[in-house]
Amino acid sequence: MTHADVLMDGGVIAALGAKLDAAGHDVVDASGAYVFPGSIDPHTHLDMPFGGTVTADDFATGTVAAALGGTTTIVDFALHTRGDSLANALATWKKKAAGKAAIDYGFHLTIADGRDETLNEMQTMIEREGVNSFKVFMAYKHVLQVDDETIFRAMQAAKKFGGLIQVHAENGDVIEVTTKDALAAGHTAPKWHALTRPVELEGEATNRAIRMAEVSGAPLYVVHVSSAMAADMISDGRKRGLPIYGETCPQYLVCSEDDYDRPDFAGANYVMSPPLRPKWNQSVLLGKLKNSELHTFGSDHCSFNNCGQKELGKDDFSKIPNGAPTIEDRFTILWHYGVNAGVIGINQLVALSSTNAAKLFGLFPRKGTIAVGSDADIVIWDPSVERTISAKSHHMNVDNNIFEGMKVKGKARHVFSRGRKIVDDGTFTGEAGAGAFVKANPFYPVNL
Ligand code: URP
Ligand code: ZN
Ligand code: ZN
Repeated sequence: MTHADVLMDGGVIAALGAKLDAAGHDVVDASGAYVFPGSIDPHTHLDMPFGGTVTADDFATGTVAAALGGTTTIVDFALHTRGDSLANALATWKKKAAGKAAIDYGFHLTIADGRDETLNEMQTMIEREGVNSFKVFMAYKHVLQVDDETIFRAMQAAKKFGGLIQVHAENGDVIEVTTKDALAAGHTAPKWHALTRPVELEGEATNRAIRMAEVSGAPLYVVHVSSAMAADMISDGRKRGLPIYGETCPQYLVCSEDDYDRPDFAGANYVMSPPLRPKWNQSVLLGKLKNSELHTFGSDHCSFNNCGQKELGKDDFSKIPNGAPTIEDRFTILWHYGVNAGVIGINQLVALSSTNAAKLFGLFPRKGTIAVGSDADIVIWDPSVERTISAKSHHMNVDNNIFEGMKVKGKARHVFSRGRKIVDDGTFTGEAGAGAFVKANPFYPVNL
């Protein structure tokens, strides 16, 4: 962290230093504010069919909301379909983003089957198409879940070709049974989503994935870690020297299982997987971020309106589409509950919300740092602005905000994407379609 001028020219950072000559350039006064590398959200779901409906935010609305929250790059998930090619999945998601995204974007691919064609295609994706990470699901049986053989083969392929396997770690087979049992006993309310997905099922799956990664020799990234138990599995694996990385999300730092009891079906807005946990997990996860036992902060933005979408599960919690709108407030939550609370330092904030994701997902040093030659993705962050988060004032295309009513201090004043000012004094000034696909370099293990 230093006091310096930053010269942006031609979409990149051209110079850094004290009292740079600004002749011929616009000058933005950042006094009283921090100048951060644009935040990188490594986990979003925009325009995604899921749970019998399609997410409320697409690449247009989702990226505007992201920008206003200080995010200048997202990495979204392109869903592979069993029996189809990875190339088709990537092409489909590129089409969804083109002409709509206001900020830069990359893609992870999901792996829906373990056919040789799929595994071999991972090489093309990594070497030619700029995708370096692949998510496998251990849950969502009959929908996205794959078996251990597929996961292990995908790990072997990732190791061979320079990819990173991401895992959604919950035991989907057991959840299928607990869910059927709960419904048979007449339990239909949102809180049963959490009661049928106990923490042990996340802990077990996390450990299983880590052990499979250990045997295959592949690096592993555990997405949306919700609990101390799962985070401890990651810490244990790292103590054995394994290249394992963990991501947690704002919802697991500030929301809890108590939210499922909210009246008028508002508890459904908190239905996500893994589910929210008892409150005491929050400080453990924050501590793990602080101690570099968890490494990235993804939103897992997957927005559904309460009205007409979450309501699909009014009489059956298992039919509530899983996910919550978090893309806009991700950075704010880490800032306020991490930095303002005195737990996370400023340099750590930047690492957790930007640099580490850039390194893992092949975007560094183009993204994730303020350095000469890097993209001029910059957030001027005003730490003095007090505000209350609300669905009434947010910019996501959805009728609920799980952080509703939280009073926070700090706001993006200006945001630049490759040198273009896309947020000016808190107002979006960018353009749909100005965001570009950013190719990832192959994965290489980094010490985080
Ligand atoms: O509930 C969630 N997390 N929805 C998005 C899909 C996923 O598993 O990441
Ligand atoms: Zn997941
Ligand atoms: Zn997700």
